[in-house]
Amino acid sequence: MVEIRENIYWLGMKDWGLRHFHGHELSTHRGSSYNTYIIKDQKTVLVDTVWDPYKEDFVRILDRDVGLESIDMIIINHTEPDHAGSLGYLLDKLPSADIPIYCTKNGADIIRNYFRRDDINLQIVKTGDTINIGKYDLVFVEMQMIHWPDSMLTYVKGAGTVFSNDAFGQHYVGLSLFNDEVDNCELYQDAIKYYANILTPFSSLIKKKIEQIRALELDIEMIAPSHGIIWRRDPMQIIDKYYEWSQDYNEGHAVIIYDTMYDATRTMAESIAAGLESQGMAYKLFNVSITDQSDLITEIFKAKGVIIGSCTVNNSVLRFTSGLLEEIKGHKFKGKLGAGFGSYGWSGEAPKVISASLEKSGLKIPLEPLGVKFRPGDSDIERCIQFGESFAAAVKE
Ligand code: FEO
Repeated sequence: MVEIRENIYWLGMKDWGLRHFHGHELSTHRGSSYNTYIIKDQKTVLVDTVWDPYKEDFVRILDRDVGLESIDMIIINHTEPDHAGSLGYLLDKLPSADIPIYCTKNGADIIRNYFRRDDINLQIVKTGDTINIGKYDLVFVEMQMIHWPDSMLTYVKGAGTVFSNDAFGQHYVGLSLFNDEVDNCELYQDAIKYYANILTPFSSLIKKKIEQIRALELDIEMIAPSHGIIWRRDPMQIIDKYYEWSQDYNEGHAVIIYDTMYDATRTMAESIAAGLESQGMAYKLFNVSITDQSDLITEIFKAKGVIIGSCTVNNSVLRFTSGLLEEIKGHKFKGKLGAGFGSYGWSGEAPKVISASLEKSGLKIPLEPLGVKFRPGDSDIERCIQFGESFAAAVKE
Protein backbone atom coordinates (compact mmCIF):
# COMPACT_ATOMS: atom_id res chain seq x y z
CA MET A 1 0.00 0.00 0.00
CA VAL A 2 1.41 3.41 -0.99
CA GLU A 3 0.20 6.73 0.42
CA ILE A 4 -0.47 9.03 -2.55
CA ARG A 5 -2.18 11.91 -0.71
CA GLU A 6 -2.88 12.50 2.96
CA ASN A 7 -4.78 9.39 4.13
CA ILE A 8 -5.30 8.19 0.54
CA TYR A 9 -3.53 5.04 -0.56
CA TRP A 10 -2.88 3.08 -3.76
CA LEU A 11 -3.51 -0.59 -3.37
CA GLY A 12 -3.50 -2.29 -6.74
CA MET A 13 -2.12 -5.20 -8.69
CA LYS A 14 0.73 -4.75 -11.17
CA ASP A 15 0.36 -7.13 -14.12
CA TRP A 16 3.91 -7.03 -15.47
CA GLY A 17 3.41 -10.05 -17.74
CA LEU A 18 0.20 -8.91 -19.46
CA ARG A 19 0.73 -8.73 -23.23
CA HIS A 20 -2.89 -8.76 -24.45
CA PHE A 21 -6.06 -7.26 -23.02
CA HIS A 22 -9.76 -7.58 -23.89
CA GLY A 23 -8.99 -11.19 -24.77
CA HIS A 24 -6.39 -10.78 -27.49
CA GLU A 25 -7.84 -7.60 -29.01
CA LEU A 26 -5.44 -5.06 -27.53
CA SER A 27 -1.68 -5.43 -27.18
CA THR A 28 -0.10 -4.30 -23.91
CA HIS A 29 3.66 -4.27 -24.56
CA ARG A 30 4.48 -2.87 -21.12
CA GLY A 31 1.95 -4.76 -19.01
CA SER A 32 -0.76 -2.98 -17.05
CA SER A 33 -2.04 -2.41 -13.54
CA TYR A 34 -5.43 -2.51 -11.88
CA ASN A 35 -5.32 0.40 -9.45
CA THR A 36 -7.60 0.51 -6.45
CA TYR A 37 -7.53 3.15 -3.78
CA ILE A 38 -8.28 3.36 -0.07
CA ILE A 39 -9.38 6.56 1.65
CA LYS A 40 -8.94 6.44 5.43
CA ASP A 41 -11.11 9.23 6.76
CA GLN A 42 -13.84 8.97 9.42
CA LYS A 43 -15.14 6.39 6.97
CA THR A 44 -12.83 3.95 5.23
CA VAL A 45 -13.62 3.82 1.53
CA LEU A 46 -12.47 1.35 -1.11
CA VAL A 47 -12.44 2.76 -4.65
CA ASP A 48 -12.84 -0.03 -7.23
CA THR A 49 -11.48 -3.59 -7.11
CA VAL A 50 -9.24 -5.56 -9.50
CA TRP A 51 -9.60 -8.11 -12.29
CA ASP A 52 -10.88 -11.40 -10.91
CA PRO A 53 -7.77 -13.52 -11.68
CA TYR A 54 -6.15 -11.42 -8.93
CA LYS A 55 -9.07 -11.50 -6.49
CA GLU A 56 -7.44 -13.75 -3.87
CA ASP A 57 -4.19 -11.77 -3.70
CA PHE A 58 -6.12 -8.51 -3.72
CA VAL A 59 -8.42 -9.44 -0.85
CA ARG A 60 -5.53 -10.92 1.14
CA ILE A 61 -3.51 -7.71 0.81
CA LEU A 62 -6.57 -5.58 1.50
CA ASP A 63 -7.19 -7.53 4.70
CA ARG A 64 -3.53 -7.40 5.71
CA ASP A 65 -3.02 -3.68 5.05
CA VAL A 66 -6.45 -2.22 5.77
CA GLY A 67 -8.56 -4.86 7.51
CA LEU A 68 -11.70 -6.08 5.81
CA GLU A 69 -13.78 -5.27 8.89
CA SER A 70 -12.76 -1.60 8.70
CA ILE A 71 -14.15 -0.94 5.20
CA ASP A 72 -17.32 1.16 5.44
CA MET A 73 -18.21 1.65 1.77
CA ILE A 74 -17.14 0.74 -1.75
CA ILE A 75 -17.16 2.98 -4.82
CA ILE A 76 -17.48 1.18 -8.15
CA ASN A 77 -16.59 3.74 -10.82
CA HIS A 78 -16.86 1.18 -13.62
CA THR A 79 -18.14 -2.37 -13.72
CA GLU A 80 -15.94 -3.91 -16.42
CA PRO A 81 -14.39 -7.07 -14.91
CA ASP A 82 -10.86 -5.63 -14.83
CA HIS A 83 -12.12 -3.24 -12.13
CA ALA A 84 -15.22 -4.79 -10.59
CA GLY A 85 -14.46 -8.46 -11.25
CA SER A 86 -13.36 -9.15 -7.67
CA LEU A 87 -16.43 -7.55 -6.09
CA GLY A 88 -18.39 -10.79 -5.62
CA TYR A 89 -15.43 -12.56 -4.00
CA LEU A 90 -14.76 -9.53 -1.79
CA LEU A 91 -18.38 -9.37 -0.63
CA ASP A 92 -18.15 -13.04 0.37
CA LYS A 93 -15.09 -12.27 2.50
CA LEU A 94 -16.38 -9.09 4.17
CA PRO A 95 -18.00 -9.41 7.61
CA SER A 96 -21.28 -8.28 6.00
CA ALA A 97 -22.31 -8.32 2.33
CA ASP A 98 -24.62 -5.41 3.17
CA ILE A 99 -21.84 -2.83 2.80
CA PRO A 100 -23.03 0.15 0.68
CA ILE A 101 -21.72 0.16 -2.87
CA TYR A 102 -21.92 3.48 -4.69
CA CYS A 103 -22.26 3.39 -8.49
CA THR A 104 -24.31 4.84 -11.32
CA LYS A 105 -27.76 3.57 -12.27
CA ASN A 106 -26.26 1.71 -15.25
CA GLY A 107 -23.53 0.38 -12.99
CA ALA A 108 -26.13 -1.08 -10.63
CA ASP A 109 -27.87 -2.75 -13.53
CA ILE A 110 -24.62 -4.33 -14.75
CA ILE A 111 -23.60 -5.45 -11.24
CA ARG A 112 -26.98 -7.17 -10.81
CA ASN A 113 -26.63 -8.92 -14.18
CA TYR A 114 -22.97 -9.80 -13.81
CA PHE A 115 -22.97 -11.17 -10.25
CA ARG A 116 -26.52 -12.55 -10.32
CA ARG A 117 -27.13 -12.01 -6.63
CA ASP A 118 -29.76 -9.94 -4.84
CA ASP A 119 -27.98 -9.32 -1.53
CA ILE A 120 -25.93 -6.36 -2.78
CA ASN A 121 -26.62 -2.96 -1.18
CA LEU A 122 -26.38 -0.77 -4.27
CA GLN A 123 -26.53 3.01 -3.75
CA ILE A 124 -27.15 4.84 -7.00
CA VAL A 125 -25.45 8.21 -7.51
CA LYS A 126 -25.52 10.78 -10.28
CA THR A 127 -23.44 13.78 -11.30
CA GLY A 128 -23.01 16.24 -8.44
CA ASP A 129 -24.10 13.87 -5.67
CA THR A 130 -21.80 14.30 -2.69
CA ILE A 131 -21.07 12.15 0.36
CA ASN A 132 -19.22 13.43 3.39
CA ILE A 133 -16.79 10.88 4.82
CA GLY A 134 -15.20 13.13 7.48
CA LYS A 135 -12.52 15.56 6.42
CA TYR A 136 -13.16 14.79 2.77
CA ASP A 137 -16.25 14.88 0.54
CA LEU A 138 -16.73 12.47 -2.35
CA VAL A 139 -18.28 14.11 -5.42
CA PHE A 140 -19.49 11.87 -8.26
CA VAL A 141 -19.42 12.75 -11.96
CA GLU A 142 -21.10 10.40 -14.46
CA MET A 143 -18.94 9.61 -17.49
CA GLN A 144 -21.57 7.79 -19.52
CA MET A 145 -20.09 6.00 -22.59
CA ILE A 146 -16.54 6.99 -21.61
CA HIS A 147 -16.29 4.18 -22.28
CA TRP A 148 -19.18 2.11 -20.88
CA PRO A 149 -22.73 3.23 -20.00
CA ASP A 150 -21.91 2.92 -16.30
CA SER A 151 -18.60 4.82 -16.16
CA MET A 152 -18.14 7.59 -13.60
CA LEU A 153 -15.35 9.40 -11.79
CA THR A 154 -15.08 10.24 -8.12
CA TYR A 155 -13.57 13.53 -6.99
CA VAL A 156 -12.23 13.77 -3.45
CA LYS A 157 -12.96 17.31 -2.38
CA GLY A 158 -10.40 18.47 0.15
CA ALA A 159 -7.69 16.28 -1.36
CA GLY A 160 -7.89 17.65 -4.92
CA THR A 161 -7.85 14.08 -6.18
CA VAL A 162 -9.77 12.55 -9.07
CA PHE A 163 -10.31 8.80 -9.33
CA SER A 164 -10.96 8.68 -13.05
CA ASN A 165 -11.03 4.91 -13.63
CA ASP A 166 -10.26 4.15 -17.32
CA ALA A 167 -10.13 7.80 -18.38
CA PHE A 168 -6.58 9.21 -18.45
CA GLY A 169 -5.18 5.72 -17.86
CA GLN A 170 -2.66 3.64 -19.77
CA HIS A 171 -1.82 -0.04 -20.00
CA TYR A 172 1.60 0.58 -18.52
CA VAL A 173 3.70 -0.37 -15.54
CA GLY A 174 6.93 1.52 -15.06
CA LEU A 175 9.58 2.39 -12.51
CA SER A 176 7.14 4.27 -10.31
CA LEU A 177 3.46 4.92 -9.67
CA PHE A 178 3.84 8.60 -10.53
CA ASN A 179 4.19 10.44 -13.83
CA ASP A 180 7.13 12.52 -12.60
CA GLU A 181 9.16 9.38 -11.90
CA VAL A 182 8.67 7.36 -15.11
CA ASP A 183 9.94 7.62 -18.67
CA ASN A 184 7.49 10.11 -20.17
CA CYS A 185 8.14 8.91 -23.75
CA GLU A 186 6.94 5.44 -22.76
CA LEU A 187 4.10 6.92 -20.75
CA TYR A 188 2.75 9.04 -23.59
CA GLN A 189 3.12 6.21 -26.13
CA ASP A 190 0.82 4.14 -23.96
CA ALA A 191 -1.51 7.03 -23.07
CA ILE A 192 -2.18 7.85 -26.74
CA LYS A 193 -2.41 4.15 -27.65
CA TYR A 194 -5.03 3.74 -24.92
CA TYR A 195 -7.01 6.71 -26.24
CA ALA A 196 -6.68 5.66 -29.90
CA ASN A 197 -7.71 2.06 -29.35
CA ILE A 198 -10.35 2.40 -26.64
CA LEU A 199 -11.71 5.93 -26.57
CA THR A 200 -11.67 7.26 -30.15
CA PRO A 201 -15.31 6.29 -30.87
CA PHE A 202 -16.41 8.41 -27.88
CA SER A 203 -14.41 11.52 -28.78
CA SER A 204 -17.35 13.91 -29.11
CA LEU A 205 -18.63 12.83 -25.67
CA ILE A 206 -15.14 13.21 -24.20
CA LYS A 207 -14.85 16.76 -25.54
CA LYS A 208 -18.18 17.74 -23.96
CA LYS A 209 -17.33 16.00 -20.69
CA ILE A 210 -14.00 17.79 -20.40
CA GLU A 211 -15.75 21.10 -21.00
CA GLN A 212 -18.23 20.16 -18.25
CA ILE A 213 -15.42 19.20 -15.86
CA ARG A 214 -13.54 22.42 -16.60
CA ALA A 215 -16.73 24.41 -15.90
CA LEU A 216 -16.95 22.81 -12.46
CA GLU A 217 -13.62 24.55 -11.65
CA LEU A 218 -12.52 21.68 -9.46
CA ASP A 219 -9.22 22.06 -7.67
CA ILE A 220 -7.42 19.10 -9.30
CA GLU A 221 -4.02 18.31 -7.84
CA MET A 222 -3.88 14.63 -8.73
CA ILE A 223 -5.54 12.33 -11.26
CA ALA A 224 -5.47 8.69 -10.24
CA PRO A 225 -6.72 6.37 -13.00
CA SER A 226 -7.36 2.65 -12.61
CA HIS A 227 -4.65 1.62 -15.09
CA GLY A 228 -1.06 2.78 -15.20
CA ILE A 229 0.53 5.74 -13.50
CA ILE A 230 -0.93 8.51 -11.35
CA TRP A 231 -0.73 12.04 -12.76
CA ARG A 232 0.88 13.92 -9.85
CA ARG A 233 3.01 16.55 -11.60
CA ASP A 234 0.89 18.93 -13.68
CA PRO A 235 -2.16 16.61 -13.70
CA MET A 236 -4.09 18.92 -16.04
CA GLN A 237 -1.66 17.99 -18.84
CA ILE A 238 -3.53 14.75 -19.53
CA ILE A 239 -6.92 16.49 -19.48
CA ASP A 240 -5.55 19.01 -21.99
CA LYS A 241 -4.19 16.14 -24.12
CA TYR A 242 -7.54 14.34 -24.06
CA TYR A 243 -9.23 17.56 -25.16
CA GLU A 244 -6.79 17.80 -28.09
CA TRP A 245 -7.15 14.10 -28.98
CA SER A 246 -10.95 14.36 -28.86
CA GLN A 247 -11.10 16.88 -31.72
CA ASP A 248 -10.48 14.99 -34.99
CA TYR A 249 -6.85 14.59 -33.99
CA ASN A 250 -4.03 14.15 -36.50
CA GLU A 251 -0.41 15.17 -36.84
CA GLY A 252 -0.61 16.03 -40.53
CA HIS A 253 1.37 13.14 -42.01
CA ALA A 254 0.39 10.00 -43.95
CA VAL A 255 0.53 6.31 -43.16
CA ILE A 256 0.76 3.55 -45.78
CA ILE A 257 -0.34 0.10 -44.66
CA TYR A 258 -0.19 -2.80 -47.08
CA ASP A 259 -0.15 -6.56 -47.42
CA THR A 260 1.56 -8.41 -50.22
CA MET A 261 1.97 -11.94 -51.57
CA TYR A 262 4.80 -11.63 -54.09
CA ASP A 263 5.98 -8.06 -53.43
CA ALA A 264 4.00 -6.37 -56.22
CA THR A 265 1.80 -4.49 -53.73
CA ARG A 266 4.89 -3.75 -51.60
CA THR A 267 6.53 -2.18 -54.67
CA MET A 268 3.39 -0.12 -55.22
CA ALA A 269 3.44 0.98 -51.55
CA GLU A 270 7.04 2.13 -51.79
CA SER A 271 6.38 3.97 -55.05
CA ILE A 272 3.38 5.75 -53.53
CA ALA A 273 5.65 6.66 -50.63
CA ALA A 274 8.13 8.17 -53.09
CA GLY A 275 5.30 10.31 -54.47
CA LEU A 276 4.35 11.51 -51.00
CA GLU A 277 7.97 12.30 -50.21
CA SER A 278 8.47 14.27 -53.41
CA GLN A 279 5.67 16.56 -52.24
CA GLY A 280 7.18 16.99 -48.79
CA MET A 281 4.60 14.77 -47.13
CA ALA A 282 6.05 12.84 -44.19
CA TYR A 283 4.86 9.24 -43.97
CA LYS A 284 5.25 5.92 -42.17
CA LEU A 285 4.95 2.57 -43.94
CA PHE A 286 3.87 -0.75 -42.42
CA ASN A 287 3.22 -4.31 -43.54
CA VAL A 288 -0.10 -5.11 -41.87
CA SER A 289 0.55 -8.85 -41.64
CA ILE A 290 3.64 -8.47 -39.43
CA THR A 291 2.68 -5.38 -37.43
CA ASP A 292 0.75 -5.30 -34.18
CA GLN A 293 -2.79 -4.15 -34.99
CA SER A 294 -3.22 -2.02 -31.85
CA ASP A 295 -0.05 -0.15 -32.81
CA LEU A 296 -1.43 0.32 -36.33
CA ILE A 297 -4.63 1.83 -34.92
CA THR A 298 -2.46 4.26 -32.95
CA GLU A 299 -0.57 5.15 -36.14
CA ILE A 300 -3.84 5.70 -38.01
CA PHE A 301 -5.07 7.89 -35.14
CA LYS A 302 -1.98 10.10 -35.52
CA ALA A 303 -2.07 10.28 -39.34
CA LYS A 304 -4.15 12.59 -41.52
CA GLY A 305 -3.82 10.45 -44.65
CA VAL A 306 -4.42 6.69 -44.55
CA ILE A 307 -3.41 4.71 -47.64
CA ILE A 308 -4.14 0.99 -47.53
CA GLY A 309 -3.12 -1.65 -50.04
CA SER A 310 -3.70 -5.33 -50.60
CA CYS A 311 -3.45 -7.62 -53.55
CA THR A 312 -6.70 -9.22 -54.65
CA VAL A 313 -7.54 -12.71 -53.46
CA ASN A 314 -10.90 -14.43 -53.88
CA ASN A 315 -12.42 -11.16 -55.16
CA SER A 316 -11.43 -9.25 -52.03
CA VAL A 317 -8.49 -8.32 -49.78
CA LEU A 318 -6.03 -10.41 -47.76
CA ARG A 319 -7.28 -11.30 -44.29
CA PHE A 320 -5.03 -8.99 -42.22
CA THR A 321 -6.22 -6.06 -44.35
CA SER A 322 -9.79 -7.19 -43.92
CA GLY A 323 -9.42 -7.27 -40.11
CA LEU A 324 -7.86 -3.83 -40.06
CA LEU A 325 -10.57 -2.32 -42.27
CA GLU A 326 -13.23 -3.76 -39.98
CA GLU A 327 -11.53 -2.29 -36.93
CA ILE A 328 -11.15 1.12 -38.59
CA LYS A 329 -14.92 1.10 -39.13
CA GLY A 330 -15.56 0.81 -35.41
CA HIS A 331 -13.26 3.63 -34.41
CA LYS A 332 -15.24 6.34 -36.24
CA PHE A 333 -12.15 8.39 -37.11
CA LYS A 334 -12.90 11.92 -38.28
CA GLY A 335 -11.01 14.44 -40.41
CA LYS A 336 -8.88 11.89 -42.26
CA LEU A 337 -8.38 11.13 -45.95
CA GLY A 338 -8.07 7.61 -47.30
CA ALA A 339 -7.09 5.71 -50.44
CA GLY A 340 -6.92 2.10 -51.63
CA PHE A 341 -4.44 0.36 -53.91
CA GLY A 342 -3.14 -3.09 -54.78
CA SER A 343 -1.95 -5.49 -57.42
CA TYR A 344 -4.12 -8.16 -59.01
CA GLY A 345 -4.02 -11.04 -61.44
CA TRP A 346 -7.42 -11.03 -63.14
CA SER A 347 -10.47 -9.71 -61.23
CA GLY A 348 -8.79 -6.85 -59.24
CA GLU A 349 -11.41 -5.97 -56.60
CA ALA A 350 -9.09 -5.20 -53.63
CA PRO A 351 -8.38 -1.47 -54.21
CA LYS A 352 -12.11 -0.81 -54.69
CA VAL A 353 -13.02 -2.86 -51.60
CA ILE A 354 -10.49 -0.88 -49.52
CA SER A 355 -11.58 2.47 -50.88
CA ALA A 356 -15.27 1.72 -50.31
CA SER A 357 -14.62 0.46 -46.78
CA LEU A 358 -12.61 3.55 -45.83
CA GLU A 359 -15.34 5.79 -47.25
CA LYS A 360 -17.97 3.90 -45.25
CA SER A 361 -15.79 4.42 -42.18
CA GLY A 362 -15.99 8.20 -42.63
CA LEU A 363 -12.71 8.93 -44.39
CA LYS A 364 -12.72 11.32 -47.34
CA ILE A 365 -11.55 9.57 -50.53
CA PRO A 366 -9.93 12.07 -52.93
CA LEU A 367 -8.60 9.56 -55.52
CA GLU A 368 -9.92 6.66 -57.55
CA PRO A 369 -8.53 3.35 -56.21
CA LEU A 370 -5.31 2.29 -57.90
CA GLY A 371 -4.80 -1.21 -59.30
CA VAL A 372 -1.81 -2.74 -61.11
CA LYS A 373 -2.01 -5.99 -63.07
CA PHE A 374 0.54 -8.58 -61.89
CA ARG A 375 3.90 -6.84 -61.38
CA PRO A 376 4.29 -3.08 -61.72
CA GLY A 377 6.23 -2.03 -64.82
CA ASP A 378 7.86 1.37 -65.33
CA SER A 379 4.63 3.10 -66.32
CA ASP A 380 2.83 1.54 -63.32
CA ILE A 381 5.57 2.76 -60.98
CA GLU A 382 5.08 6.22 -62.44
CA ARG A 383 1.30 5.95 -61.85
CA CYS A 384 1.98 4.98 -58.20
CA ILE A 385 4.32 7.95 -57.74
CA GLN A 386 1.69 10.27 -59.20
CA PHE A 387 -0.93 8.66 -56.93
CA GLY A 388 1.26 9.54 -53.93
CA GLU A 389 1.79 13.08 -55.22
CA SER A 390 -1.93 13.66 -55.75
CA PHE A 391 -2.77 12.19 -52.35
CA ALA A 392 -0.20 14.48 -50.69
CA ALA A 393 -1.77 17.46 -52.43
CA ALA A 394 -5.24 16.45 -51.21
CA VAL A 395 -4.02 15.99 -47.62
CA LYS A 396 -2.43 19.44 -47.68
CA GLU A 397 -5.55 21.17 -49.01
FE1 FEO B 1 -10.26 -0.87 -17.62
FE2 FEO B 1 -13.24 -0.38 -19.17
O1 FEO B 1 -11.99 -1.25 -18.11
